Amino acid sequence: MRILFVTTEVYPLVKTGGLADVAGALSAALAESGEDVRLLLPAYPQAVRALRHWRPIGEGEVLGWRIHLIEGCMPDSGVPVLLVVCPLLFERLGNPYSASTGCEWPDNHERFAVLSRVAASIAVGEWGEKGSVRGWKGEGWRADVVHANDWQTGLVPVYLKLWENTRGRKGPASVFTIHNLAFHGQFPSYVMRRLGLPLDMFSVNGLEFYGNVSYLKAGLYYSDSITTVSPTYAHEIQTDQAGHGLQGLLLARAKTLVGILNGEDNRVWNPAADPSIHHPFTDRQMSGKALDKMALQRELGLHVSATAPLFGVISRLTEQKGVDLVMGAVSDIMVRDGQLVILGAGDRRFEVACMAAAESYPGRIAVRIGLDEALAHRIQAGSDVLLMPSRFEPCGLSQMYAMRYGTLPVVRRTGGLADTVVDVNDPDDRGTGFLFDAATVPAFLAVVHRAFDLYRNRAAWRSIQRRAMRQDFSWRRSAERYRQLYRELVQK
Ligand code: ADP
Ligand code: GLC
Repeated sequence: MRILFVTTEVYPLVKTGGLADVAGALSAALAESGEDVRLLLPAYPQAVRALRHWRPIGEGEVLGWRIHLIEGCMPDSGVPVLLVVCPLLFERLGNPYSASTGCEWPDNHERFAVLSRVAASIAVGEWGEKGSVRGWKGEGWRADVVHANDWQTGLVPVYLKLWENTRGRKGPASVFTIHNLAFHGQFPSYVMRRLGLPLDMFSVNGLEFYGNVSYLKAGLYYSDSITTVSPTYAHEIQTDQAGHGLQGLLLARAKTLVGILNGEDNRVWNPAADPSIHHPFTDRQMSGKALDKMALQRELGLHVSATAPLFGVISRLTEQKGVDLVMGAVSDIMVRDGQLVILGAGDRRFEVACMAAAESYPGRIAVRIGLDEALAHRIQAGSDVLLMPSRFEPCGLSQMYAMRYGTLPVVRRTGGLADTVVDVNDPDDRGTGFLFDAATVPAFLAVVHRAFDLYRNRAAWRSIQRRAMRQDFSWRRSAERYRQLYRELVQK
C-alpha cells in the first residue's frame, strides 16, 4: 500500500513531543513490513539540516503560495520524506507551532492549510499530473491512504473530499489520528476565505464549531476513519468530561473510531545501547543503572546518594501534565529525603514554580527548562521513579520509556497511562508502577508515599523493575493494527 503520512513533527528531524516519536517509529515499522510509506511535513530549517541528503523534486502554487518540494530519507530508518518548502511560512526561529516567546504563530491557519492542501494534491497524484513538478521521481505516485495527525492536518480530509466532489470519484482513503483532543486549531470564520473551500462547508455538518473554523473538527468530520492513541482515551473522548465539546460528533462516528496504543521505539529507547547514557544496563545486569543515577546527580549538581529515591519529571509543563500536583508534593518529597529532577518547558507560571523549588532546595532539586533529548534519556536511566500525574493523557510515551529503563512510573489512572501501567498492588502480581485516581494533591501524595515505602524494600523493588523492563511495548503489534485498518479502508 502507498501511504502518505502527514505530520508536523518527526523524530529525529524536529520534535516537541510524542507525535514526533510516533511519526518516526510508526513510519519505520510500516516500511519494515513492506509498505510504501512517505512522510510529509513542512521544511522547517532544523528539519532540512537534519537530513543528510535531499533533492528538489518540483514546485507549484498552492493557495497563492509558491511551494517547492524536496525529498530526502529519514537518517535512521531510510523512510522517504517530502518537505514542503515555503520560506515565508516555515523558515522561522522557534518551534513548529510558536515563536521562542511561546506565542503561537498568528498565521498558523495559513501555514497548516498550505501543508494540508499540498498533502491532498500529492495524495491524489495531482502534483505530478499538472506538469508543475520537474523530475518528480514518483511521477504518477499517488497514495492509497493518507494518514493525517492532529488539528494541524485536519484539513487534509477536507481537501480530499473537495477533490472527490469535483471529480465525482473516490480518492485515497483518509485516516485521522487524534493525539490530543484538547488542541482544536480554532480560528475566526473569516479564515474560510483563505482556504479555497466552498463556503457551504462552514456548517455544523462541516468545519464550523461554535461560530469558528475548527481544523480538528474538520479532520474528525471528513476523514474515513478516526483513530486515537489508546483504547481508554478512545472511550473517554466520547464523554462530556473529556470530549472537549466534540463528544457528540465522536459518538456519532463511534463505529469508525478506534484506539490503537502507541508503541515504543526500541531503536531509540534501549538502556542496553543508548549513546546518551554513560552506563548501559539490562534487566539482568542492573549495576549500570546505579552508576547512571550517580552520574545524573553529579551532572545536575545534586548530592550524590545511592539511597535517596530520585524522582524524575520529563514533561511539557502544562495543566494537562499535572505539574501543579508535582509542585504540591515537593515539600513532602524533601521531608522524606527524596530528590527531584525536572526537565521541561511550557507555561511560564509552571517554569517559574519549578525554578523556585530548585532554588529552595539546592542539591536536592534540579530543574532544566527547555528541550534536551539526551538529558531526557539520562533522566530516564538515572531516576528511580518517573512522576506523570496527568489530568488526561491520550497515550503517553514517557511512562513506557521509564519502564523500559527500570524507572517505576507514578501515573494517574487515565487514558493511555491506565492502559500501560499496572499498579504494584495488583492481586495477580503483574504490577509495574503506581496508579492513583483523583487529580488532587492528597491523592498524589498518597501514591508518592507508597513509592517511598516500596523503595525501601530493595528485593521487591528490583523484581518490579525487572518486570517493567521486560514488557513488550514495541511498535510491531500497533503498526500491524494500522496496516489492517488501512487495508480495510482501501478494500471498501
Ligand atoms: P506529550 O506528547 O503529550 O508531550 P508523551 O509522553 O507522549 O507526551 O511524549 C513526550 C515525549 O517528549 C517523550 O519522548 C519525552 O521524552 C519528550 N520530552 C518531553 N519534554 C521534554 C524535554 N523538556 N526535553 C526533551 N524531551 C522531552
Ligand atoms: C500527544 C499526547 C500524548 C501522546 C502523544 C503521541 O502529545 O498528549 O499522550 O502519547 O501525543 O501520540
